[in-house]
Amino acid sequence: MTEPRPRPRSVRRRLALATAAVAAAGIAAASALIFTSPAQAATTLGASAAESGRYFGAAVSTQYLSESAYANTLGTEFNSVVAENAMKWDATEPNPGQFNFSGGDQLVNWAQARGMKVRGHTLVWHAQQPGWVQGLTGQNLRNAMNNHIAGVANHYEGKVFAWDVVNEAFEWDGSRRQSNLQQQLGNGWIEEAFRAADAADPAARLCYNDYGTDAINAKSTAIYNMVRDFKSRGVPIDCVGFQTHIAHNENLSSYQANLQRFADLGVDVEITELDVGQGSGQANTYGTVTNACMAVARCTGITVWGVTDKYSWRTDNPLLFDG
Ligand code: G3I
Repeated sequence: MTEPRPRPRSVRRRLALATAAVAAAGIAAASALIFTSPAQAATTLGASAAESGRYFGAAVSTQYLSESAYANTLGTEFNSVVAENAMKWDATEPNPGQFNFSGGDQLVNWAQARGMKVRGHTLVWHAQQPGWVQGLTGQNLRNAMNNHIAGVANHYEGKVFAWDVVNEAFEWDGSRRQSNLQQQLGNGWIEEAFRAADAADPAARLCYNDYGTDAINAKSTAIYNMVRDFKSRGVPIDCVGFQTHIAHNENLSSYQANLQRFADLGVDVEITELDVGQGSGQANTYGTVTNACMAVARCTGITVWGVTDKYSWRTDNPLLFDG
């Protein structure tokens, strides 16, 4: 059997990546110069992350930006944001071809005014699809998915540095989640989504994002095998997001090795939705995750899934502030 020919990357993407690489090198060199003196040691999570060219971010619900404590903590401690819900399919395309970017734009404007990076979450997943999508079949669903990706990624081109292109497509045992996307479009849907995102925004980092991948296990290995296949065929994927929704006493014995094996495939790794349940091990577990990211050169940053326990999706005070 002849080996599949690696697909040439689009010229735009190559140029965009080369430009980004040069810029990143420049920024890294500059930041190294800025933060060399111990007298200027960073005192916030974002500034500390920036010392090694990384980011430390938080998921944001824009309705809380009017609360001074929320906005002050977000603007002071973090140097990156992601929309907790405002950039998902149900929010951005509530009706076929009718896009609503108001929530995402509000966050992008707020972040850009403060020099903060913006992650995009998430172009395609099984949850939070608008009602009109859920009944679509075959080519109609394929067209809807590709049109959605194009519409959203085009709108945020140049404003979002990384997209969770596909979210949560695998089960615990490593099999594919039998979502409408999987059932109607077949195994190729994830590749299709990445190619659509690459066409819409060749400069953005294109990520696969999932939970339950905080160890070398059946689920993370299935994703590892997909990424290895994508890289071997030139499918445009740049990063893997590890949500890392974990317990205070989570077994993280293979966490760093798992991140490293993905990095060794030639992709960045990002901790995308970190929160750690309250308990005796909570602080140490936050430390273990952070140290693992710092130890893996291609771990580009950490995002915690919220600013304050008051508004967390969880009820066990899993975040860094207040509870
Ligand atoms: O917007 C509606 C509002 O109009 C309505 O009045 C209200 C009450 O029904 O619901 C609102 O929608 C809620 C939405 O958050 C926005 O607040 C949904 O009910 C609620 O289910 C949804 O929860 C979000 C959840 O994803 C949905 O799966 C959480 O806030 C969000 O933190 C959570 O985030 C996910 C990531 O996207 C993917 N990884 C897991 C993570 C935690 O589940």
